[in-house]
Amino acid sequence: MRNLSGKVALVTGASKGIGAGIAKRLAADGASVIVNYSRSAEDAEVVVRAIVATGGQAFAVKADLGRPEDIPPLIDAAVKRFGRLDILVNNAGVYKVDSLESITAQSIDEHFHINVRGLLLVTQAAARVLPPGGVIVNISSGVATSPQPMVHVYCATKGAVDTLTRTLGIELGPRRIRVVGIAPGFVATEGNAESAAAMTDHLVGKTPLGRVGQPSDIAAAVSYAVSDDAAWVTGTTLDVAGGLVF
Ligand SMILES: NC(=O)c1ccc[n+]([C@@H]2O[C@H](COP(=O)([O-])OP(=O)(O)OC[C@H]3O[C@@H](n4cnc5c(N)ncnc54)[C@H](OP(=O)(O)O)[C@@H]3O)[C@@H](O)[C@H]2O)c1
Repeated sequence: MRNLSGKVALVTGASKGIGAGIAKRLAADGASVIVNYSRSAEDAEVVVRAIVATGGQAFAVKADLGRPEDIPPLIDAAVKRFGRLDILVNNAGVYKVDSLESITAQSIDEHFHINVRGLLLVTQAAARVLPPGGVIVNISSGVATSPQPMVHVYCATKGAVDTLTRTLGIELGPRRIRVVGIAPGFVATEGNAESAAAMTDHLVGKTPLGRVGQPSDIAAAVSYAVSDDAAWVTGTTLDVAGGLVF
């Protein structure tokens, strides 16, 4: 485990799935963790209790990243509780099947409001308090670089996330704040449990390492990205996908 003792990390969308895995891993690495959620208060408390039970520090904060007014209080809560913020993991995201025929203005807005606008506004608020040495991790997706029809809008949001990883890395580099993207392949989570049955064989078949990813696979990459071992890494996105090209 890496030494993040004394560091404070905010993980958005950490009540389940990949975000919960990242929160637990950063806590195990020694960070104090803010577990953000928008609807799943009980799931967020389960994550907090798991961290505290293993000797870590964590608390949950409700904030819907689709609502700009929820964002400054989220950052304020982190700083008020732990006195500082060193690491932001922009993990919260939504993904829905959207064929060209079925796309609506509402689904476009929902995807972009959470996956792009929310990510950027959280980053803006966090950047005001992150010290030199701070790190921002953006959870992208392999579909940003190998996009697929049926998820047009989701793919477009993750393409935007990769672009922001680059632009933010350039802007924040002079302040010695790094920005790193992590692009997961197919990972078994609550969010894709319903569709997983139909997709698993197909996607595992395309995955050279021959298995579905787990939240811990992505969390391990985040642990590296926020560590000093990645001190020379910024403005770029790392595929963590078992070799899968969607
Ligand atoms: N699973 C995969 O195969 C895969 C592959 C590539 C990339 N990703 C990316 O990885 C990230 C996590 O995916 P996942 O599969 O772990 O998702 P998930 O199981 O559906 O969990 C999503 C998390 O995001 C939170 N969330 C959703 N809307 C939110 C909002 N408006 N404000 C704040 N939090 C919100 C949820 O909290 P509440 O329930 O409280 O709303 C939940 O904690 C996403 O960015 C996704 O695009 C996933």
